[in-house]
Amino acid sequence: VSPITIAIDGPSGSGKSSVSKAVARELGLAYLDTGAMYRALAWWALHREIDLADQNAVAEAARALPLALSTDPARASVSVDGTDVTEAIRETRISSSVSAVATNLDVRAELRRRQRELIDRAREEQGGVVAEGRDITTVVAPDAEHRILVTASEEARLARRSLDVHGAAGAEHLAATRDQVLRRDRDDATVSAFFEPADGVVGIDTSDLTFEESVQAVLDVVRGAR
Ligand code: C5P
Repeated sequence: VSPITIAIDGPSGSGKSSVSKAVARELGLAYLDTGAMYRALAWWALHREIDLADQNAVAEAARALPLALSTDPARASVSVDGTDVTEAIRETRISSSVSAVATNLDVRAELRRRQRELIDRAREEQGGVVAEGRDITTVVAPDAEHRILVTASEEARLARRSLDVHGAAGAEHLAATRDQVLRRDRDDATVSAFFEPADGVVGIDTSDLTFEESVQAVLDVVRGAR
């Protein structure tokens, strides 16, 4: 069978990461979380006390980033220079500084190059990949066999994000999550278009779908049922 790339983009809280991982498991493909790469760079830059506003220093760090990623959807892990940062890159301090590194165009060029290498390797060795992020359908893999934009209403995204981060979606948790998520999406949107599907990209609105239904909706697209 010929290899396939399934490119999935979407904003924060759309559910794209957990859905992408489940689709990769279901289809026996590799899973590439490109957001984890930007997060790992933010972690490393903070660790090395690099000024995130210093564009050249951050770009230099991106080119030197000693990053190792597992693309096994059953145990996705990320390490930097031998340190396992799988959990650390999900911390709020990383979520709130990652856009600063991701809006650096030299950083994007370097991480894009690595993402394409990882996708090519997964196609050769694992039959293909589910790659997710903000610019996969448009820039990293516009030639992917399947391209999907996962969206959800702002209300649904904030509730999911709040559950992820705080384990609850009560009023005070929602308020705390709201500013952070909306600011990150706004900053990220200055360099990638992930709120509307580009030409040829299938949009899936998961606002009223359960997790299982969202996974099924992506599988339906891949299997040509819609
Ligand atoms: O997907 P996740 O929320 O973990 O992504 C973290 C950050 O990485 C995003 O907020 C964005 O700044 C950056 N990112 C990106 N392009 C991608 C994937 C993620 O700029 N393809």
